[in-house]
Amino acid sequence: MKARIAFLPGDGIGREVLVEARQVLEIIASEHGHEFEFVEGDIGAIAIERHGEAFPLPTREICESSQAVLLGAVGHPKFDHLPPDKKPERGLLALREFLGNYANLRPVLISEPLIDSSPLKSDVVRGVDMLIVRELLGGIYFGKPRGRDGDRAYDTETYSRDEVRRIARMGFKLAQLRHRKVTSVDKANVLESSVLWRETVAEVAREFTDVKLENMYVDNCAMQIVARPQQFDVILTNNMFGDILSDEAAMLGGSLGVLPSASIGGKVGLYEPVHGSAPDIAGKGIANPIGAISSAAMLLEHSFGLHHEATKIDRAVVKALSRHYRTPDLKSRTKEKTEERIVSTREMAECIRDFIRTPDAT
Ligand code: NAI
Ligand code: MG
Repeated sequence: MKARIAFLPGDGIGREVLVEARQVLEIIASEHGHEFEFVEGDIGAIAIERHGEAFPLPTREICESSQAVLLGAVGHPKFDHLPPDKKPERGLLALREFLGNYANLRPVLISEPLIDSSPLKSDVVRGVDMLIVRELLGGIYFGKPRGRDGDRAYDTETYSRDEVRRIARMGFKLAQLRHRKVTSVDKANVLESSVLWRETVAEVAREFTDVKLENMYVDNCAMQIVARPQQFDVILTNNMFGDILSDEAAMLGGSLGVLPSASIGGKVGLYEPVHGSAPDIAGKGIANPIGAISSAAMLLEHSFGLHHEATKIDRAVVKALSRHYRTPDLKSRTKEKTEERIVSTREMAECIRDFIRTPDAT
């Protein structure tokens, strides 16, 4: 297939990991006869420097005319003094809103070689394979009214039936491709918006009789994620609960650096690692490129339907880890470290690419 991909490296380690992901896609293209054209755009701090705003018009146009967007990360400490709506991070919110992607998918898959990097006991995390489906364009992050009234401040959690219906359908469809279980997470014992959420999810569940629906309160879910994470298949939840629970779930594998994400449902899919620009390690060449590379795999799967190619990338990642390649963030927490090879961003990515070129190598 032929496709145009918007390539937005952003700031800090975003730039370091995204070139590696792009080279992975280039290898996939040449091995499988696809043609990917990458068009680079600025977003975040670099865009403020070059264009005076975090999500400038040229980048907007590149995204609109592409079939998918691959993003690194945004944010730079030199803009810390700016108010929230002038910061580089605003560029990302603007991009998500512009593309209309209401569904944020964050898979947490603990492969066997990652178990040693987890802060939890191995029998708790072994086999964890969950997908958090977070509503991305509604809820308290966007609800009005919001503001200040003297010494009081307020935000509004609000959802319409339509907003819940479309994210619920997405969650159930994805569950059909997995283990056919949806855990819908809310706070229906307290919040009216959660009562509507629960009612609507139950309605949608009737369209998907092959998928099991379970409801869970968010406080219980936060506990269950560390106590018994293996019970989850698809976690379906609202914007704020999804934000919090997905960061919690990220640590099951020991590092934020391995987690990919996809934001879909709108005009053009957006794919980015879950982590930020990590100023503490930027420029050192030690950032973990796995989150970015796995995001490229999600791009192939969700935007282009290239399941075989996506799987090839995922397998190569596991193989590199099985070979004991570890960027510093993945240092083993157990005492048996003898086989561990601490490598750079480039070395890790190169190893993954080798396994894509020769999948049968050991
Ligand atoms: P962060 O995700 O950049 O870093 C948190 C910690 O995890 C740091 O110690 C970092 O070194 C480590 N880390 C993150 N990704 C890693 C990787 N791939 N390999 C190895 N270690 C990794 O979050 P932080 O420090 O809160 O934010 C830094 C900047 O990034 C801020 O400006 C923030 O607003 C922005 N940010 C941007 C996001 C995005 O673009 N999607 C998401 C989160 C934060
Ligand atoms: Mg967050």
